[in-house]
Amino acid sequence: MRGNKLVGAQIGCGAFANAQHLPNMASMDDICIKYCCDPNLKNAQSAASKFGGEQAVSDYSQIIQDTELDFLTVATPHDMHLPIVRAAAANGKNVFCEKPMALSLEESNEIIRAVKHGGIKLCVDLNRRMAPSMLALKKRYLEQLANPKHNSWRYIETDREELPEEKTSHFLIRIQDESSSYRMIHLDPAHGGGCIIGESVHWLDLACWLFAPARPIEITAWGNVRMNHGIFLKFDNGNSATLDFSSCGTFDYPKELFEITSRAALFRNLFFVENRYYGIPGLDSETFPLQADDFKDSIPQEGFDAFMAKNLAKNQNAGGNIRNDTRQLVVDKGHRNMMQGFFDAIRNNTQTPCDEYCGLQATLLAQLAIQSIKCKSTLPVLEEELHPAIL
Ligand SMILES: NC(=O)c1ccc[n+]([C@@H]2O[C@H](COP(=O)([O-])OP(=O)(O)OC[C@H]3O[C@@H](n4cnc5c(N)ncnc54)[C@H](O)[C@@H]3O)[C@@H](O)[C@H]2O)c1
Repeated sequence: MRGNKLVGAQIGCGAFANAQHLPNMASMDDICIKYCCDPNLKNAQSAASKFGGEQAVSDYSQIIQDTELDFLTVATPHDMHLPIVRAAAANGKNVFCEKPMALSLEESNEIIRAVKHGGIKLCVDLNRRMAPSMLALKKRYLEQLANPKHNSWRYIETDREELPEEKTSHFLIRIQDESSSYRMIHLDPAHGGGCIIGESVHWLDLACWLFAPARPIEITAWGNVRMNHGIFLKFDNGNSATLDFSSCGTFDYPKELFEITSRAALFRNLFFVENRYYGIPGLDSETFPLQADDFKDSIPQEGFDAFMAKNLAKNQNAGGNIRNDTRQLVVDKGHRNMMQGFFDAIRNNTQTPCDEYCGLQATLLAQLAIQSIKCKSTLPVLEEELHPAIL
C-alpha cells in the first residue's frame, strides 16, 4: 500500500492489457501502477508511458518480492498463469488473472493449492457475469422465477398439473465471430489451447453463474476442438445451457447473443447494449451505456439499433482494415466492474466476484467439452472434481 492506494504490477502488456487492464487501473484514483512487466521490454515501456506505470521491467521475478506490492494483474499467454500465480501466492501478492485461469484441471488444482497456502485473493476475469446488462438480465429472470407474471392472452392449461420440465429454464448462447480474431498463440495447444479453453470458458462460466446454486451435472459437445463447436450443459435441477460457437461469422454483426426462456417468458440480451423481455406484462426493454463510445455525438441514442449504426459507421470508415480505425466503440462486458470487485475484495477482505473455484469450474467444463467431442459422448461433471479436496 502507499497511503490509501493499492500498489500493483501489470504482468503481460499485450493487446488485452492495453485495451482493458491498464486503462481501467489508470482511471482509478486509489490504484498505483508501480510496474509494467513484459519479456518484450518495448511492450512494458510503451504501456508504462501510456498509462502512468512507474517502472518497466522484463521479468516478474525481479519485482515479486517488493513489499509495497499488493497485487498483480495478469494478461499473459494461458500457460504462464500457473507459474505466475504460484510465485505471487508464495510472496503474498493478490492476483487478478485473465481467463482461462488454467489450461487443465490439474493446473487449476495447483492454483487452488497455491492460493490457499499463500492466503491471497484471486479473481478470474470471466467478466461477462459482471456486465451491467447481464446483471439486469439475471435480476429480471430471478424475479419471474420467484413470481411468474403472464400476459393476459397467454393460454394457460387448467385441466392438468404443470409437468416438471415446464418448471425448468434454458439458456441459449449464440457466438459468431470472424476467425481472424484468433492468432496462432490462441490456437497453439501449449500456449492458448484453442477456442473452447480460451473463449468458451466465458459462456460456461456465465451459465453456471446464472443458474447457481444449481450444479452442472452433464456435458455433451460436438464439432471441432480448436474452433467451431457446440456445447450442451445440463444442471441438476433440469435447467440447461446450449452454446453454439462459430468462428465463420462477420465483424459486421455483434458477436454475442443470449436468450433465457423460463416460466413462459423470454429474456434476450443483445450484445450487452440492450435487454428485451417478452411474455411479461409491463416489461419491455432496457438499454445500457457503452464502456467507450466515440460515436455518441453523431448517434446519441442507446440500444441495439443505435449500436448497429455506430458499428457500421466504424467499419465503413476503416479504409479496408477495421483495425486501422482507432475510434473507440466498446460495449460494457463487465471488465471494469470485475476489476473493481477484485480491489474491493482486497480492501474489505471479502470473496472476489469470480474466485479460484469458479476458475476451476470453467476450465473443467471446457476440458470435458473437448473430451466429449473426441469420444462423441456425454460426460458426467463430477462433484468431487468441482470441489477438490486440496491439502
Ligand atoms: N476477458 C476477456 O474478455 C479477454 C479478452 C482478450 C484476451 N484475454 C486474455 O488476456 C490474456 C492475454 O491476451 P492478449 O490477447 O493480450 O495476448 P497478447 O499476446 O497480445 O499479450 C500477451 C503478452 O504477454 C507477454 N508475456 C508472455 N510471457 C510473459 C511472462 N512470462 N511475463 C510477462 N509477460 C509475458 C507477451 O510478451 C505479450 O506482450 C490471455 O489470457 C487472454 O485469454 C481476455
